[in-house]
This record gives sequence, structure tokens and C-alpha cells, in this order.
Amino acid sequence: MIKLAIIGAGAMGSAIARGLVKASCYQSFEIILFDLNSSALKQLAQEGFKVSSDIQSITAPIVLFAVKPQNINEVLESLAKLDPACLLISILAGTKIQKFAGYYPNNPVVRAMPNTPAQLAKGVTALAFNSKSSNQNKQEARKLFEAIGKVVEVEESEMDLVTAVSGSGPAYIYLLEEAMIKAAIEFGMNQDTAKVLVRQTIVGAAALLEANPESKAEELRAKVTSPNGTTHAAVTSLTNSGFEQILRDAIAAATTRSKELGA
Ligand SMILES: NC(=O)c1ccc[n+]([C@@H]2O[C@H](COP(=O)([O-])OP(=O)(O)OC[C@H]3O[C@@H](n4cnc5c(N)ncnc54)[C@H](OP(=O)(O)O)[C@@H]3O)[C@@H](O)[C@H]2O)c1
Repeated sequence: MIKLAIIGAGAMGSAIARGLVKASCYQSFEIILFDLNSSALKQLAQEGFKVSSDIQSITAPIVLFAVKPQNINEVLESLAKLDPACLLISILAGTKIQKFAGYYPNNPVVRAMPNTPAQLAKGVTALAFNSKSSNQNKQEARKLFEAIGKVVEVEESEMDLVTAVSGSGPAYIYLLEEAMIKAAIEFGMNQDTAKVLVRQTIVGAAALLEANPESKAEELRAKVTSPNGTTHAAVTSLTNSGFEQILRDAIAAATTRSKELGA
């Protein structure tokens, strides 16, 4: 029996489907993925998922929307009428709950903002619910996203900020890696060595954060920062160059852009 339908089998839709099976939340044959792109569906079918390009045939207790925001109107227009008890979950950036409630006024609707580490079950997802969502709906949605990482509950009004912090956040870390590698090469290191040193430093530092959930980053930083030592010199330089302000401006810019896209 189909328990979950996912519309859009791209990067996020397929990552969520695979994460759910890996976490033994569902069996692959209990998930059906809909997409217009047949090559994406072919691979998923080989992995045991049900697949279809006929969106009119959808029936499932939970429908998860994972198309790009610019495609949601065509999806909602072409979708056959869904049962009012069907839990609708959207991961579309900047797309408000009202968009779905406009078509399905009586359905529980969840707006979710996951991020790409979800592909490795290391994601974090913020969830916002409409007033039609029961406690059971909330538990179902939490369970689904806990299969691909951690979950927090927020008000829908916070979603633009969530997008700027954790949705776009992985890109800030990748930019940090790029900048550190560039600097190491500029000061004479060969590219391969720089890449191994920088990447493993980021992976290792993240692992230490994960292994010490109660510790503040500040405390872990203090452990590598002896007075007047090398780390102290670097951190002082970063602080004097406005590191915190730069990140603050970046998060503000992403929040503004998210608001513009959702307007
Ligand atoms: N990637 C992220 O970091 C991230 C994080 C949080 C939220 N999101 C949200 O997740 C959603 C999906 O992102 P993504 O990166 O997975 O995009 P994606 O890889 O482009 O996947 C979207 C899929 O939907 C298909 N599609 C387009 N129109 C369709 C229709 N009418 N019916 C069925 N399928 C259709 C696309 O096919 P074609 O390729 O043929 O167009 C594509 O396979 C977006 O709304 C995004 O805002 C993404």
C-alpha cells in the first residue's frame, strides 16, 4: 500500500525518499515518486520505489511537494482532487502555506525547510504547520524529517530567516573551504595538500561539534586558542576584519531575498 507520494524526484525529493527507506521509516514500495523527468524515475524504480509521471493518479495519505517553486502552480492545477484528510507537506523555498490552503482549505499543511546534508541523513529541517494540523499530523511530519536529520518547529513567519540560516547555510561553509584553500595556495602550498588539510579540518571540527552537543563553539575554540598564539592571531585578525558583521549581513541579505521570492 502506498503511504507517501512525492511530487518532484529531483535532488531533494529523491534524497528524502532514500533517507526514509534507509531509516526504515518506510519500505521503498510504500513510496511513489512523480516526475516529468523519466531519467530521474528510472533510477528510483531500479531501487524499488514506485514511480509515475501521471500526477492525476495520486492517492496517498501524505503528499510531499518537492518541485521548484516556479512549477508549483502547474502541479496544483493538474493534481486530481486530494482527500481532505491528506497531509500536504511542502519543501518549496519561499512558498507560503496559503498557496496550498488556497487549493485545499481543509487539509493539514506543513511547510518544511530542509537542507542538502539531508542526502546523508545529516540535514536539519524547520517545520511550520497550519491550523488544520492535528498532533498526529505533526508527529507524522516530524518522523518523516527525522529520518533525514534533526527537526525544529517554528512559526511560518520565521521561515525566511530559517532559509537564510540553515537552508542556504551549507554554501557558507563551502565558501569558507574555498577561501582557506585559495589562501594556502597563495602562500605556497600545493593544491592537493591544501584541499586535504582544509576539508578534513572542516569535517573534523564539525565532528567535534557533533560529539559535544552541550559545548558552545566558543568553548571548543578556546581549546585551540592559547594566549598570544597562532590561533589567537588569526581570530583577532578575523574579528578586526568584521567577520561577525560579514556573516550578519549575509544572513540579512538571504532573508531579504527569501522574502522577495515569496512575495
Ligand atoms: N536543494 C536545496 O538545498 C533545497 C533546500 C530546501 C528546500 N529546497 C526546495 O526543494 C525543492 C526541490 O529542489 P531540488 O533541488 O530537489 O530541485 P530539482 O532537483 O530541480 O527537482 C525538482 C524536480 O521536479 C521535477 N518537476 C518539474 N515540474 C514538474 C511537474 N509539473 N510535475 C512533477 N515533477 C516536476 C523536475 O523535473 P525537470 O528537471 O525535468 O524540470 C525535477 O526533477 C525546491 O522547491 C527548493 O526550493 C531545496
